[in-house]
Amino acid sequence: MEIADLRREYKLAALEKEDLRADPFEQFKFWFEQASTAEVLEPNAMVLATVDSSGQPFTRTVLLKDLDARGLVFYTNFESRKAAMIAENPRVSVLFSWLPLERQVSVNGRARKISSAEAF
Ligand SMILES: Cc1cc2nc3c(=O)[nH]c(=O)nc-3n(C[C@H](O)[C@H](O)[C@H](O)COP(=O)(O)O)c2cc1C
Repeated sequence: MEIADLRREYKLAALEKEDLRADPFEQFKFWFEQASTAEVLEPNAMVLATVDSSGQPFTRTVLLKDLDARGLVFYTNFESRKAAMIAENPRVSVLFSWLPLERQVSVNGRARKISSAEAF
């Protein structure tokens, strides 16, 4: 199978503005529920992009552990390469690829440490 031969028609639900919730977190929760009940393998897996000091982006998969009005929570080792990049430049982007739903959600923002009471 050639990569160029991989084609499919995307014909699941359209995205209409009037169907969207005003609060993006509520919208995310609704879509996350859909992804959790659909056949999405690891719906909480997200690709996290960080940049190094030269502006070179790096990506890797992490798992969403919590979600509230403050943002998306993931756990990682503070000694990791991604943690070092975030310490230097907290601008990050995450992407959820819920391909069976023909849906992706991209979230951009700044990462910060959660309280040590919440982390373990
Ligand atoms: C399915 C999956 C889930 C993962 N979840 C996490 C996670 O929640 N936190 C984490 O630090 N690494 C997770 N990893 C490993 C990261 O993708 C990555 O390899 C590791 O954290 C080192 O990344 P870094 O060198 O950029 O810091 C996961 C990998 C896979 C394949």
